[in-house]
Amino acid sequence: MESKVSRHKFRSILQQLVYLQTLTVAAMLLLGALLTLLVVRTSALNTEDARLRACAQELALAWAQGRGAEEKFKEVAEREGALVQLAAPGYMPQSYAGGGEWTPYIAWIQDNTRLRALMSSARETPQVTGNYFRVEKKPFSVRTAYIRAGGDRILLIHSDMRPHNREIQSLMAWMLGILILSCALTALICYSTSGRVVQPFVRINHTVQCYARGDFSRRIKVEGRDEAAQLARTFNELAEQLKQLEETRKSFVSNVSHELRSPLASITGFVDAMRDGTIPHTEFPHYLNVVSDEARRMRDMINDILDLGRMEAGYVKLEYSMFDVNELIRRILVTFEPRIAEKRQEVRIRFAEEQSFVYADSAQIGQVIRNLVDNAIKYSPEDKQITITTYPQRQEIYVSVRDSGIGIPQEDLPRVFDRFYKVEKAHTPGAQVGSGLGLSLVKRIIEEHEQNVTVKSAKGRGTQFTFTLQRAEAPRKRGQSGV
Ligand SMILES: Nc1ncnc2c1ncn2[C@@H]1O[C@H](COP(=O)(O)OP(=O)(O)O)[C@@H](O)[C@H]1O
Ligand SMILES: [Mg+2]
Repeated sequence: MESKVSRHKFRSILQQLVYLQTLTVAAMLLLGALLTLLVVRTSALNTEDARLRACAQELALAWAQGRGAEEKFKEVAEREGALVQLAAPGYMPQSYAGGGEWTPYIAWIQDNTRLRALMSSARETPQVTGNYFRVEKKPFSVRTAYIRAGGDRILLIHSDMRPHNREIQSLMAWMLGILILSCALTALICYSTSGRVVQPFVRINHTVQCYARGDFSRRIKVEGRDEAAQLARTFNELAEQLKQLEETRKSFVSNVSHELRSPLASITGFVDAMRDGTIPHTEFPHYLNVVSDEARRMRDMINDILDLGRMEAGYVKLEYSMFDVNELIRRILVTFEPRIAEKRQEVRIRFAEEQSFVYADSAQIGQVIRNLVDNAIKYSPEDKQITITTYPQRQEIYVSVRDSGIGIPQEDLPRVFDRFYKVEKAHTPGAQVGSGLGLSLVKRIIEEHEQNVTVKSAKGRGTQFTFTLQRAEAPRKRGQSGV
């Protein structure tokens, strides 16, 4: 059904293109034809009028000379294939017809009013007038030159315009033929060339329909650099993003269920085993600790998932304030002291300045630091060093957490910020497995602050995470100003 819609659309674009172009060509040709006809007809009339005027003059001259005028009239009528008339008021005009069927016309012009009108307007110089009428339903077109010929008389010479009109008509027929042929040719050419223009859009439409159905595997072939190619490229990028989003969503769902299922399974397993006596009373404290750890791990994971979800949905509004990040780090380190002591690790603090004021959401940044320190402790063996550094650079404060632990293999580095991503289990000590959400939360929070977080690591040598924060001017303490 959908493809039907698309084909219909495709046809309609092509149809519109063909229709518009053909219409344009037809309009242009029609205009050209009309102009040509006008020019041809006007110039033909001008030539005819000049000829008739000259004849009228010739007739008038012959009449003025008197003798042999009648012969002259006949001669001119024959020569020109025209009708020569000598008319005077109250008399039947004398007619000298030279070829052609003039009888109906003679009857028509003889009509007193017509001749009288000509007589009253006749002058010593020839004038020309045109007449078009119907005799016995047949069109009759005549051009007449007339001139005063002494006294009340006038001389008229009429030329039959029908052959000339027929020429114009055949010219018009030719032009019409050319017009129709040109329109057909335009439509044909336009159809074949516009097809090529429209084709990419059809292909895009086809592929995008697959996206709409949730199949993001297809890509549109990009050809050229025109708008269609740009659109195709944009759609391809969109599909790539949608595909990634879809994959993330799928793996998120399966990861969440998997990650939550395993601690739940061990909790229920141990609790059941304690109840039915499989685990002796003496070992209860140990297994209760395991159950408690697992439950806490689940709680942390659920918190992380919720935090991440809220952050990504845009529910978390950062509450910016100015604070000393060095102070925040010190306070966080205090809470880690038992774990650090347990692993006999050493934490070194290297603050370039006594205080490093930043403008950020302190609760969120606290979480970032906790996650990084937690990783550093978790992924470093005993007796190793952890170094926390802060230093200002331009408009930023750089914070870095470096450990000399197990490191992250180069090929895993680009993915450590992905949700649920954990470097191969073999590298991580069994009891300390996390959710794989900590770093994605770190990245999300830092990005929300419009800052950067980077990681450098060498397998077996250690890892360093560095992020930036917007630097703030140190607040002036009371009593300090002016000193
Ligand atoms: N400091 C580190 N040293 C070595 N590996 C690390 C370090 N920090 C993170 N990783 C690796 O990156 C993965 C993702 O980290 P994270 O998102 O914090 O998840 P989690 O800590 O829950 O495992 C970890 O599973 C671990 O493999
Ligand atoms: Mg972590």
